[in-house]
Amino acid sequence: NKGRYEHYMQKEIHEQPESLTTTMRGRLIQGGSCKATTVLLGGLKDHMKTIRRSRRIVFVGCGTSYNAALAARPILEELSGVPVTMEIASDLLDRQGPIYREDTAVFVSQSGETADTLLALEYALENGALCVGITNTVGSAIARKTHCGVHINAGAEIGVASTKAYTSQIVVMAMLALAVGGDTISNQARREAIVDGLYDLPSKVREVLKLDNEMKDLAKQLIAEQSLLVFGRGYNYATALEGALKVKEVSLMHSEGMLAGEMKHGPLALVDENLPIIVIATHDACFSKQQSVIQQLHARRGRLIVVCSKGDAASVCSGGSCRVIEVPQVEDCLQPVVNIVPLQLLAYHLTVLRGHNVDQPRNLAKSVTTQ
Ligand code: UD1
Ligand code: BG6
Repeated sequence: NKGRYEHYMQKEIHEQPESLTTTMRGRLIQGGSCKATTVLLGGLKDHMKTIRRSRRIVFVGCGTSYNAALAARPILEELSGVPVTMEIASDLLDRQGPIYREDTAVFVSQSGETADTLLALEYALENGALCVGITNTVGSAIARKTHCGVHINAGAEIGVASTKAYTSQIVVMAMLALAVGGDTISNQARREAIVDGLYDLPSKVREVLKLDNEMKDLAKQLIAEQSLLVFGRGYNYATALEGALKVKEVSLMHSEGMLAGEMKHGPLALVDENLPIIVIATHDACFSKQQSVIQQLHARRGRLIVVCSKGDAASVCSGGSCRVIEVPQVEDCLQPVVNIVPLQLLAYHLTVLRGHNVDQPRNLAKSVTTQ
């Protein structure tokens, strides 16, 4: 039921404050004399020791689910101290890449039925790794075949382009990072900031959804473009990949997400006054590097759209003209959840304005169950 919305994708974008709340429900437990919040992921509690002791954590997924894992990788590495590597399911299978008994392999899939992810799971099981699922679908093949896991509880997602599942997947993996990381004196302040950030996230997403009209206006300006680049780095490398994926899969406009640190190694050759480029430059440890990227793009007369933290408009756009999209700032590792929302809205409006099918894009399926 689409309710008051015209399309499922639109409904699912706008219901993210609620889906995120459901994802976290019952999993952040406040209590005890020290008032600290503990994370309870019921499906993992008997396996936590094994995950903490593993030599490596390997994320495996396809499409948006892969991007969600990429967004969560930095915080999992930081809090757990365990090396985290990334595998696109088909590529792991093509290479028959090494998976060991000492590995924890985490399979991320909204549907829980994607053929490549499922085959990669079978491969990891044969190789003796602890296999953890992160899925939205209770009873799905991946939920059944993994040793343990977490349901993201985002509610049914109908639009082929994944939106609310993406943000809920990131939140589950941030909670996974808190759970695996455990409590130490040295990371106490950081953990508390992340927990506070999780509690605040639904209201921050509600706030960023108010950009709807602004993103529709931007979509009108971009309606006839051939191509759109998205640059991000650090926590928001994933935002660049996922924003570009949204745009290409539904609006049928060519779009590429790129690591800003790689800009000089090729992509810079594409920059001119015509090609629109979105730069994600919200406030985190990479901010000054992104400011320098923006300056270099200005120097080549790039046509820039900058996503920055509220209040940073003047400092991101000094010395050139650009369109600025200001978003609320949250704890750095949760910022990808906020930052993707304007890009989801842009992809949605571009698609409607260009007259394409939003919920069932050409040639795509919600769940790809064949190789
Ligand atoms: C579970 C209940 C939830 C209840 C809560 C109360 C289910 C599906 N969930 O939630 O209704 O409110 O207890 O304590 O009944 N699993 C996998 N692979 C996956 C995903 C999950 O093996 O990909 C396993 C988990 O290890 C766990 C079970 O499925 O054994 C349920 O997972 P999840 O729903 O995340 O657990 P809880 O949040 O504890
Ligand atoms: C398909 C969908 O390609 O599968 C994408 O169209 C999705 O939206 C991808 O990200 C992976 O799906 P899942 O269900 O494994 O997360």
